[in-house]
Amino acid sequence: MIVAVDGPAGAGKSTVCRLLARELGYTFLDTGAMYRAVAWALRRQFPDGTEAESIRQAPLDESFPLRFDIQDADLRIFFSGAPLGDEIREPEITRLASSVSQLAWVRSYLVGWQRRLSADGRVVAEGRDTTTVVFPEAEVKVFLTADLATRARRRFQEYLAKGISVEYTTLESQIRERDEADSKRPISPLRPAPDARVIDTSRLEISQVVLILVDIVRSRERADPPRIEAGP
Ligand code: DC
Repeated sequence: MIVAVDGPAGAGKSTVCRLLARELGYTFLDTGAMYRAVAWALRRQFPDGTEAESIRQAPLDESFPLRFDIQDADLRIFFSGAPLGDEIREPEITRLASSVSQLAWVRSYLVGWQRRLSADGRVVAEGRDTTTVVFPEAEVKVFLTADLATRARRRFQEYLAKGISVEYTTLESQIRERDEADSKRPISPLRPAPDARVIDTSRLEISQVVLILVDIVRSRERADPPRIEAGP
């Protein structure tokens, strides 16, 4: 069973998917972390290059020293054999990840990895295009959303908790602009797959959203139990 979850920034996708995967005993595949890892690796390999040059020069194939693996039901990322962690969350990498995620060949490199990592099933895959491009056959597809004010408020509180000061109104207009750009981009635009369940989380607690999703997955599992292969 593959559970694919998409939706706009601030809808609670990451938190919900991490908890959902834990509750189900599934692997959590954070595809955003993979785009961040490519951005980080490009910056490391071409520290002096401009963004455009770095991206053009990178041969994203087996020779590229980035590796992904699933360990203890979680995505692990390695660059030249060394694990990558929170360095991929830095603001510069966030910005670069957004640019590299618009390139078709970066997407196809990562989509290949995402499918290989999920070959055994029992995966909650979170991120743009997981419901449309990466796993069009996913048994459960969910589009998590929330109104703009709620999403801005959640982001604002996240920043506060991290001790980062930011103006609420600036944050709200940034999210509005990002929504606009994301929905209009030519490759993998932000929009629900036609067969996705759209869940508005504006008036729900995280725990309520997780419960709703556990219910959806469990009833799908009951409708479609895993096949047990007969012995020889
Ligand atoms: O979810 P995030 O902020 O960690 O994602 C990092 C960047 O990658 C962000 O610009 C969105 C992009 N992304 C994408 O284009 N496709 C995905 N499947 C996941 C993330």
